[in-house]
Amino acid sequence: MQIALLGGTGDIGEGLALRWAYHTDHEVIVGSREAERARTKAEEYETELVSRGLDRTIAGYENAEAAARGNVVVLSVPPWHVADTVESVADSIGEAVLVSPAVGMKVDEDGAHYAPPDVGSVTRLVADAAPDDVPVVGCFHNLAADRLANLDVELDLDTLVVGDDPDAKETVRALAEGIEGLRALDAGPIANAPEVESVTPLVINVARHNEGMHDVGVEFK
Ligand SMILES: NC(=O)c1ccc[n+]([C@@H]2O[C@H](COP(=O)([O-])OP(=O)(O)OC[C@H]3O[C@@H](n4cnc5c(N)ncnc54)[C@H](OP(=O)(O)O)[C@@H]3O)[C@@H](O)[C@H]2O)c1
Repeated sequence: MQIALLGGTGDIGEGLALRWAYHTDHEVIVGSREAERARTKAEEYETELVSRGLDRTIAGYENAEAAARGNVVVLSVPPWHVADTVESVADSIGEAVLVSPAVGMKVDEDGAHYAPPDVGSVTRLVADAAPDDVPVVGCFHNLAADRLANLDVELDLDTLVVGDDPDAKETVRALAEGIEGLRALDAGPIANAPEVESVTPLVINVARHNEGMHDVGVEFK
């Protein structure tokens, strides 16, 4: 597969890029609003992998070019920019599967609080913004980017997958499970995305209030 990470220069993008490049043979493409930034980060990721004895090529392009090269396109941008980002690459997506890891949250002195968009979830927002023939899948919402990016750490975590297109959902589930230590569980259609996305502020609050649990995640048993 060719996996394009739009905003792959940021935290979750870095974690997913490194894990896919480290654990799988999929082609990883970093996207950014600035081509130069994408290339610089892609080189950083390559250097990290070389330090672990792995000679992988990671490409870096401006978001639309990255999207054109991916058959799976991950929207690793802040939740309030997902719709703009989808619109900016809509002509380039082709038949790719669009993946949303984004969660709407507000953070105050008490902690992180779920703050979905009016349509109910960010995954739904992405589905509404995407061209009609582009399937949208929500995944990776409840993972800590730092834990993903630290390749010394075993994940041993679950991620939840939501989507209305069974084939697209299976594609993303398989991609997620390509990452060692990650199990992908089906959480149903996009209508269930609010329940999945709302787990993220809970995870962040648990991480904040419990010593040694900085990069905590979820495992269903
Ligand atoms: N961080 C986590 O632990 C985590 C875990 C699970 C899910 N998520 C979700 O993943 C998404 C990204 O999170 P993150 O922590 O990786 O965010 P981030 O590091 O703050 O931003 C990611 C990238 O988004 C791009 N970006 C910033 N402003 C933008 C704009 N106005 N329009 C388009 N792109 C913009 C930037 O890339 P360029 O400047 O290079 O374009 C940036 O590197 C969020 O929706 C978040 O809810 C995060």
